[in-house]
Amino acid sequence: MCGIVGYIGEKNAQEIIIGGLSKLEYRGYDSAGIAVLTKDGLAYEKAKGRLAVLEERLEGKPLTGSVGIGHTRWATHGKPSDENAHPHTDAHAKFAVVHNGIIENFLAIKEELIAKGYTFVSETDTEVIAHLLADMYDGDIVSTAQRAVRRMRGAYALGIMTEHEPDKLVAVRLASPLIVGVGDGESFIGSDIPALLEHTRDVYILNEGEMAVLTREGVELYNAETGERIEKELFHVDWDLVQAEKGGYDSFMLKEINEQPQAVRDTMGARIDPETKRVVLPELKMSDAELATYDRIYIVACGTSMHAGLVGKEVIEKLVRVPVEVAIASEFRYRDPIYTPNTLVIVISQSGETADTLAALREAKKSGVKVLAITNVVGSSVAREADEVLFTWAGPEVAVASTKAYTSQVVVLNLFALYLAQVKGTQTPEQIAEIVDQMLQLPAKIGEILKRTDALRSYAESIKEVNSLFFIGRSLDYAVSLEGSLKLKEISYIHSEAYAAGELKHGTLALIEDNVPVIALATQPDIYEKMISNIVEVKARGARVLGFALEGDEELIKTVDEVIHIPATLPFLTPLLTVIPLQLLAYYASTARGNDVDKPRNLAKSVTVE
Ligand code: M6R
Repeated sequence: MCGIVGYIGEKNAQEIIIGGLSKLEYRGYDSAGIAVLTKDGLAYEKAKGRLAVLEERLEGKPLTGSVGIGHTRWATHGKPSDENAHPHTDAHAKFAVVHNGIIENFLAIKEELIAKGYTFVSETDTEVIAHLLADMYDGDIVSTAQRAVRRMRGAYALGIMTEHEPDKLVAVRLASPLIVGVGDGESFIGSDIPALLEHTRDVYILNEGEMAVLTREGVELYNAETGERIEKELFHVDWDLVQAEKGGYDSFMLKEINEQPQAVRDTMGARIDPETKRVVLPELKMSDAELATYDRIYIVACGTSMHAGLVGKEVIEKLVRVPVEVAIASEFRYRDPIYTPNTLVIVISQSGETADTLAALREAKKSGVKVLAITNVVGSSVAREADEVLFTWAGPEVAVASTKAYTSQVVVLNLFALYLAQVKGTQTPEQIAEIVDQMLQLPAKIGEILKRTDALRSYAESIKEVNSLFFIGRSLDYAVSLEGSLKLKEISYIHSEAYAAGELKHGTLALIEDNVPVIALATQPDIYEKMISNIVEVKARGARVLGFALEGDEELIKTVDEVIHIPATLPFLTPLLTVIPLQLLAYYASTARGNDVDKPRNLAKSVTVE
């Protein structure tokens, strides 16, 4: 995830900014850059690769000045490269911008600027901001930035400076996190607290839609939309550096679970046109005509990514009526899959480096089949080798247990299904618009679930000594059960199995006896009654059942011991909500057992060996 640092004061800006960026390295990045107001004007340097590469370039020709902005980039629009690294400037290098997040309508603004004669040197959405500021500049960077922000749609955070007004920095937060630090005769911008901790512990945590104007004398806050002044209290940080890297959470996993509203929002980002309520996938190189020819799909992945694929299968089959087979990559690569001329292979990998998934991709390509990758890492092997790529914009995932990558993968699969349905005409524009509306509500609904953790915490406490438990569900609830069970196993080390509820009586029911914990998902209206019958079967054998139901369901509690309610949405979007409490449950069970949540035993984040 991109990192932003800004400084205005009396000290050496380059030193402070590079130091701050090094504290944001944990967020992951592929290039870095810095701009400083020197005595000769605005100067900048940027480089693909680690911060050390940038530092090497600055050796011998430092940027000397006391005002500057810096950035570590985690590529979204455009590959990792010197040109795509931030800061971006206008053609005359009078304005410099660093940016975290996505400008959803950048293409429209870019076209407008190109028509006015502006030329672009990068593939990024960020560069439009620098040109837009130059184009709109009215002698006051604050009002110019306010007007520019009104033109830009998306979820982003910005650091802005201009040679025309050397005693000011502007920071804007629209969804992507940003903080502003206040020191003695100096002020700071940072994406996260660790970047500033060495210099100040007094910060303003900007809320969505807030803008800060930084000078040496202090910080003024505004509503970015209306320009009205805002007063807010300084937050005094008493965390140490390690706590700060985790955003004050106890672990990266908990931080990443809580980042899901943002990850889902960013991943939908520019791919939903809010006016037409249709899905746009400008990243796809293949034509709609070609896409429409595919009538058979394999989804190939490992672990959690494979579980996302199981949800994707149901959604694609429902919306597009194209058969989808989900395969475990380590099996698929040694199979002799039956490819028809119109088969598409979709590989899913958070890291983009999983050995089995990569091998499956290569096998498919060798057979002449087109491969579409869904991955979280720009520049990864999977991203480079696939014919087509749809990125999840979840930001780097540090914890071994995958959480925000899963939800983002499911979002991409939903978007892909909708796009395919548009192209093949299997859903009407009205049906697509209704689904899009519901998808846009998901981040807020995930946010609601994240606030209600008490019941999950106490349930986790109650299972911390058990040897084994069962997850049951049908259709999409079964797909989510598999993910809930994997999460619990991998970080709590409690044995668990996920079963298709209707399959229990074909063997596994023999394991149900007094007090065996069963987690039953009953969120799918079509098979709700069947699910209740399966719950009755386990209850009759003495199981202690925690049920998951949709809000408004007053029935389930009559059959189970406890119920967790989740907000209602369209049935095939429900997995994106149901999975959240299951992730939290695994997390609380793991901490209740005193485990290292972020680094479970025997496991690695990226499995690059077979
Ligand atoms: O990076 P990938 O998505 O290809 O990784 C695949 C699996 O190793 C991964 O999803 C694993 O199952 C998770 N750590 C589980 O939380």
